[in-house]
Amino acid sequence: MNLRGIKRPVALMAATALLAGALAGCTGAATKAPSGADTANAVNGRIPLVAPGEKDTHLGFWSSGPYGGVWVVGIPSMRILREIPVFEQRAAYGWGFDPHSRSMLQDTMPDPSRASWGDVHHPMLSKSGGNYDGRFLYVNDLANSRIAKIDLKIFKTTAIKRIPNIQGVHGIGVHADTKYVFATGEYEIPNHLNPNANQDNNYQTAVTVLDQDLNIVAQVPVEYGNTDIMGTTHDGRYVYTTVYNVENGTTLKDMVSADKDAILFIDVNKVDSALNEGKFKEVNGVKVLDTDYPGLKTFVPVAKNPHGVDPEPSGKYIVVSGKLSPTVSVVDIASMKVVKEVEVGAGPLHSSFDNKGNVFTGNFLDSNVVKWNLADALAGKPKEEYIRDIQPAHYSPGHMMADGGGTKSPGGKWLVVPNKFSKDRFVNVGADYPENQQLFDISGDKMRLIMDMPILPEPHDIQIAPAELFKDAVQSYDPKEAANHEHNIEPTKEGETRVVRDGNKVTVYTTAKRSEYGFKELKLKKGDHVTMYVTSLETVKDITHGLAIPDYGINKAINPGETIKVEFVADKAGTYWAYCTWFCSALHLEMRSRIVIEE
Ligand code: CUA
Repeated sequence: MNLRGIKRPVALMAATALLAGALAGCTGAATKAPSGADTANAVNGRIPLVAPGEKDTHLGFWSSGPYGGVWVVGIPSMRILREIPVFEQRAAYGWGFDPHSRSMLQDTMPDPSRASWGDVHHPMLSKSGGNYDGRFLYVNDLANSRIAKIDLKIFKTTAIKRIPNIQGVHGIGVHADTKYVFATGEYEIPNHLNPNANQDNNYQTAVTVLDQDLNIVAQVPVEYGNTDIMGTTHDGRYVYTTVYNVENGTTLKDMVSADKDAILFIDVNKVDSALNEGKFKEVNGVKVLDTDYPGLKTFVPVAKNPHGVDPEPSGKYIVVSGKLSPTVSVVDIASMKVVKEVEVGAGPLHSSFDNKGNVFTGNFLDSNVVKWNLADALAGKPKEEYIRDIQPAHYSPGHMMADGGGTKSPGGKWLVVPNKFSKDRFVNVGADYPENQQLFDISGDKMRLIMDMPILPEPHDIQIAPAELFKDAVQSYDPKEAANHEHNIEPTKEGETRVVRDGNKVTVYTTAKRSEYGFKELKLKKGDHVTMYVTSLETVKDITHGLAIPDYGINKAINPGETIKVEFVADKAGTYWAYCTWFCSALHLEMRSRIVIEE
């Protein structure tokens, strides 16, 4: 290898600097002249918005579709900062390799013997007073009817719940003060929730009400169609969902036969009063509310096949995107009526908002993003006036989200638009095209495309909040809290490694530090049932150890201060190395201890 080759030729650097300087004006978000570091980092003539030494101002939480988890992305750099595994085993973090996380994954599967996976569509941040509070993130698993809670103090999944009596959790909603978390039921199933109601309707679904720790509070039966995307009002009064199959059709033809579909409003106060008055019956351990409890449900007819149901900041209206209609419907929450059909283009899917009264709607068929002014549209001004800007987006935009987009106080700076199809935008890498996403700066009169980049399949929805909101995040709970959180035991102290044998039950309490385990050699007998608790003695952030015992299917990351628990049955005699899977020091490779299992 020619080592001199890694030096950047001077001429190329100069050319890059010129190009970067020329482009600085049109990227908009580059607020200062490019520094040496900027130009050295220019990629294809674009200057990254976050220079080395600087940090992103916002964090985005991406649902990852069939990747079954969440990607945390820095904005505006659009760099993936970390992954949070949720519904799928992930070796990098040891997620699903220890009894605690494995039980969270497997025991919530329809069939616990099958590998856990998830189809994650909607991340929803917890809120206080209608604004993101940075405490929790909730995500759905459409495939296995589950919902999960991520604690944003540690950026880890802390609870997964499977919801009975329905199939397919698609949309989720978070109450304005996170008093409740709501989940839709996508696929209607034969009527079993209220056998006496609506005899002409054989199929039913339900909206589930959970508390913030994912205990199921109640279910609201829904006798018409599928409940899909969800939203909540900023005052905490209503949760609402699209119902895109009021026909209760089971074939495509039947599902799109009616002219109108509906938005279902559920009054949260009535959920509470129905529970208090005992107006429910238990089905599979869930309190299913009386379907005809007065005032509980209101169906509002809207244009056929509604999709996005986005609450604008003032709290007065919901902007409903009508997938198959060229309009978005503006629903007045107080009167529960459509007060305006606004023409925005073909195939509107989702809308988001800035802090100046504007709406950004993505048109799937027109492949663009339209910025329009809500007050002007409501006042009946002509299209040329209420539409403020139209930006061509990549082929078929899907979801889209502005920073703070679903709250009372949007930031008005960034808009991310992931695709539904990317067509042939990138170099051919096989049967599937890479997915695409774009970042727009929406702070000016016109939207400005800042970045256009591939992403793994497949991004659905996003939440974007100021990075400041997460500044108190830690790598793990403090030792006591961590131990109590997953398994109620005291952390093991330096030099206090011990092996406790009770018949063939062996419990090992040990430690990990740079760069050795507390045990030098572990002697076991074939047939021993082994439980190991390993406490990291590290206190410095980012010094992560791992414990892998490959022959026994074990691999677990150990964050500073954390105590992990792993279990295995020593059913094969022999000598096996336990080793550290995270680089922890110059002696990382030496961090290994023998496990000798005797016949
Ligand atoms: Cu501990 Cu590598």
